[in-house]
Amino acid sequence: MSKIFVTRKIPGEHLEKLKDAGHEVLISEFDRVLTGEELVEKVKGAEALLCLLTDRIDGDLMDAAGPQLKVISNYAVGFDNVDIKAATDRQIPVCNTPSDEVNEAVAEHTWALILSLARRIVEADEATRRGGYKGWEPDIFLGVGLIGKTLGIIGLGRIGSMVARRARGYNMTVLYNKHEPDPQAEKELGLTFATLDDLLAKSDFVSLHAPLTEETRHMMNKETLAKMKDRSFLVNTARGQIVNEHDLVESLRVGHLAGAALDVFDNEPIIHPELIAMPNVITTPHIASATFEARDKMGEQAVSAIIDTLGGKKPENLINQEVWETRRK
Ligand code: DGY
Repeated sequence: MSKIFVTRKIPGEHLEKLKDAGHEVLISEFDRVLTGEELVEKVKGAEALLCLLTDRIDGDLMDAAGPQLKVISNYAVGFDNVDIKAATDRQIPVCNTPSDEVNEAVAEHTWALILSLARRIVEADEATRRGGYKGWEPDIFLGVGLIGKTLGIIGLGRIGSMVARRARGYNMTVLYNKHEPDPQAEKELGLTFATLDDLLAKSDFVSLHAPLTEETRHMMNKETLAKMKDRSFLVNTARGQIVNEHDLVESLRVGHLAGAALDVFDNEPIIHPELIAMPNVITTPHIASATFEARDKMGEQAVSAIIDTLGGKKPENLINQEVWETRRK
């Protein structure tokens, strides 16, 4: 029987499978993010850790858990909260939960934000609720149409591709930027590769889909925001730290950008007070993947990763593949 520590209860019944597999499952009794000290205390002696993107999992925490820690299963697609190098140095496999369900959910949310920005849905809803609708008027809440506009996708992984696919329905031109051009995606999805500068200069909507790395941290800053087309929109459903929020506020304040929609923030759950006060900014609380279908799949994958690894079977979504043969046993 292995001790498994789960840092927070997750939706669905998948955790039961860990018990059914004969493991001792300890789920944090708090329905909140654990403090660093609490995490250190609770992880001690665990052979498997099921953690969330809100948990910071570094080498010290791995050492605090003890040498018996055999797998870290991160209930998220992004894994910037886990020090992968530290895990690899310690021969600990780390897994994540990428799936079509999550990717589609994030792509759908991205489009909900693009459409809401273009048609000022949130502003209009708030005004209507405040009693602001006095009858049809020709010039209230004018938005921008999407047809014929250009969407720029930064980071053409699975989510970026799904966002691109949906742009066809709006007859938009789609530019993308990633390390290398992707001829297959260009052919399948009708996209055009662009340098970052070119994409920023030509896109009416820029949507971020890159992972958070040292290279992408604050890549949207004073200089890059200034390169964006005048009166364009920025959408971020990736990771908050990709955008320098202070610089974004400035860009919106001077009217260079027409608006922004953010599902993720630099220092979650804190949101820059000026951003949240701007009518042309839409904020959602990191819910891009929050569909029943996506959460169910995430639970299934996070639990399977633990059952498989502890059972000696290579898990499907192993991030640090190189540790598998030499992993802790
Ligand atoms: C992820 O999976 O990385 C999302 O940000 C949350 O589901």
